[in-house]
Amino acid sequence: MKFPQHRPRRTRSSANLRRLVAETRLSVDDLVMPLFVAHGRGLRQAIPSMPGIHRFSVDTLVEEVAEIAALRIPAVILFGIPENKDPLGSEAYSDSGIVQQAIRAIKKQGIDTLLIADVCLCEYTDHGHCGVVCDGRVDNDRTLALLAKSALSLAGAGADMVAPSDMMDGRVAAIRTALDGGGFHDLPIMSYAAKYASAFYGPFRDAAECAPKFGDRRSYQMDPANANEALREVAMDIDEGADIVMVKPALPYLDIVRRVRETCRVPVAAYCVSGEYAMIKAAAQQSWLDERAASMEILTAIKRAGADFILTYWAKDAARFLAQSGR
Ligand code: PBG
Repeated sequence: MKFPQHRPRRTRSSANLRRLVAETRLSVDDLVMPLFVAHGRGLRQAIPSMPGIHRFSVDTLVEEVAEIAALRIPAVILFGIPENKDPLGSEAYSDSGIVQQAIRAIKKQGIDTLLIADVCLCEYTDHGHCGVVCDGRVDNDRTLALLAKSALSLAGAGADMVAPSDMMDGRVAAIRTALDGGGFHDLPIMSYAAKYASAFYGPFRDAAECAPKFGDRRSYQMDPANANEALREVAMDIDEGADIVMVKPALPYLDIVRRVRETCRVPVAAYCVSGEYAMIKAAAQQSWLDERAASMEILTAIKRAGADFILTYWAKDAARFLAQSGR
């Protein structure tokens, strides 16, 4: 294809023509909104490192979820902030846990949304690690039973899907077995299959108060240097029964999203995490870039890389913008 016979600029020459030839389309159908729920009443507490994002109590969360559903966003994912933390993260698998309460309240209102429950211990443990700590180390196999218990408790409360984010080996199988044993054969598992030990989770850890009190998460979350390992993680999780696999974070790992998309045949999600959101917000607050344009570019890029859907703190903003522009 040689110039001047071919002029790629021809198909960019008008907005209508650009619409016709666009290869990737972001839609409201692609969005999942993450939400934080805490104890209390009437709570709508701003999270300083995530401008525009709040911690809700169950009553205000129900209103928020109704608003999200009215924007036609298909799903939300819930993270809990417990009243009390302990070494074994008991509130994660208590039937009166905060997420369990929230799920029941949302279901009671009959709001038409897919309720995804994150399954992890780090928000609930006093040491902030995602598993049981023994002799200063996170004990993989002792953690599995607690994760399975959490998933079962969340399913019992009415969750439509569970999403383990802990990165213990074998947790998808443990959760699948527990769910099936409890009669939840049809409840899907979305595994955070390739979850990296990332600096971009910083603001989330403020929001969920779950930064580890000692050490870091590098003995269970993946090394940012590795890609083949992500494919092995994804293959193992699918083998264990994952219905959907996730890559997280998204923007620094678009190559992983693409490779996972090309090597597996289950739906692929990508999580555009708190730090990705916060850095654009911070720059936009300085008028250093245009938040709407930058966020839509990022979400489109994540889809172009191969994600079927995106967990993003921009879900509401993007849904409004897409609706305004008739998409
Ligand atoms: C819990 C969990 C984390 C995130 C989602 N689930 C934090 C972590 O692993 O430290 C991060 C999400 C975000 O940064 O937006 N394990």
